[in-house]
Amino acid sequence: MVRWCCVDISNAHLNTSTSHHLNITSQHLNTSTSQHLNITPQHLNTSTSQHLNISTPQHLNTSTSHLNISPPQHLTTYNKQIIMNKSFILSAALSLSSLFASAENAPTPRKQLAPKPPMGWMTWNLFQGNINEQLIRETADAMVEGGFRDAGYEYIFIDDLWQGGRDRQNNIIPDPEKFPSGIKALADYVHSKGLKLGIYSDAAQLTCGGWTASLGFEEQDARTFASWGIDYLKYDYCNAPEDSATARQRYRTMANALQNSGRDIVLGICEWGQRQGEEWCEEVGGQLWRTSYDVRDMWKDIVKEGGMGILDIVNITAPLAKHARPGQWPDMDMLVVGLRGKGGPSSDLGGVGCTQTEYQTQMSMWCMLSSVLAMTNDLRKVTDDDRRILLNKEIIAINQDALGKAAERIVNEPTHQVYVKPLADGSHAVAILNPSDAAQRVSLNFASVGLNGKYTVRDVWQHRNIAQRANKWKGTVAAHETKVFVLK
Ligand code: GLA
Repeated sequence: MVRWCCVDISNAHLNTSTSHHLNITSQHLNTSTSQHLNITPQHLNTSTSQHLNISTPQHLNTSTSHLNISPPQHLTTYNKQIIMNKSFILSAALSLSSLFASAENAPTPRKQLAPKPPMGWMTWNLFQGNINEQLIRETADAMVEGGFRDAGYEYIFIDDLWQGGRDRQNNIIPDPEKFPSGIKALADYVHSKGLKLGIYSDAAQLTCGGWTASLGFEEQDARTFASWGIDYLKYDYCNAPEDSATARQRYRTMANALQNSGRDIVLGICEWGQRQGEEWCEEVGGQLWRTSYDVRDMWKDIVKEGGMGILDIVNITAPLAKHARPGQWPDMDMLVVGLRGKGGPSSDLGGVGCTQTEYQTQMSMWCMLSSVLAMTNDLRKVTDDDRRILLNKEIIAINQDALGKAAERIVNEPTHQVYVKPLADGSHAVAILNPSDAAQRVSLNFASVGLNGKYTVRDVWQHRNIAQRANKWKGTVAAHETKVFVLK
């Protein structure tokens, strides 16, 4: 048997007196005797250490590359104990199971769960871990009262840092301080408003924020999510191996578990486009594929610290457009409209904020490229300028169009990019994006992008027809602006 699957860490193994870091190395691990890895708060001196790092495989001999537990917030909020026995046993089993991966390759038939790109609001980019049931209830109220639900925004996505560990039966539980009434009661409330509830986990032992994740507990967690009434799972890929085969296997395992749960739960694959999720999302049972690393509240990345600006994500996603189709959508990450440089995680890594023109470009291009639309501003106080962008029904209609094709980028010049998206009624949405830092005069013959007729041209940001029987458009596109027209 796999002797190394279980480790025991007790007080004696921990040296908390010296540094901000608590490191556990292999000599600290007694792999031969115990059944469980139990880390309890009394093992940790939370006043001095900032981090408990256990690095695998060398420290634990499991298949994941990193296990990161940060006290105190990760260890004091729940019951004085985190039990992770099963996950280690199962990660051992998992590395063995890759031997049998070929037997799993046949796709499981799936129901169509996302015929249109999901729209909603996500906790992460503004609120990060500052979430609780009151915020979710107030946001649900604001989605209805502010007209967002009626415009198509349907989901409230609870992102990372909702978890409170596992109970003694290894059921995942919410943080009891943030969600004292439990997630089921919250889902009931959200559903009563005509909305849906999404939640977050990760295909490893711990999430990106270092909290309890679902590897080895997929069936159990999927059943728990179903019993709560969850409608969507964002499944992240922190602390997991780099290779694509393992990613596919882990996503397939969760997709199957969701399918077995008896509830329709949409699966968002969040491997940040690093393993070409767009190519295998459908095969493994997912509905959405994140295309890039995390969006930041900025036009483009100049600090090179890993965050992505609006233009960066457009440029990463444009070549993937051909993969979009009903049931399979790009996830270009959250809309940063309205954050203005004061959003939690969205304001690090160079997230200095955007102009209103740039926010309008984000909405335009997320709609043209058929992305998931996940707002992340504070919906309880939205300015008129932001409402004009987020609630523009004409641009949303382009995103939600029944044909389900994403725009093709036909022109890609430093001065302007041109995108064409065919729509179900035979018309076409045409976007002209100016990626440069100066206003540009643009003259576009529609025939040069494959549109050979004469068209009524509707400007979807001005909400009016600007030309009849036209075969070209000529005008100025401001720096970072995107014009969007529907040609009929
Ligand atoms: C990753 C994801 C983000 C967010 C955080 C939460 O960075 O890409 O969208 O979910 O994790 O920790």
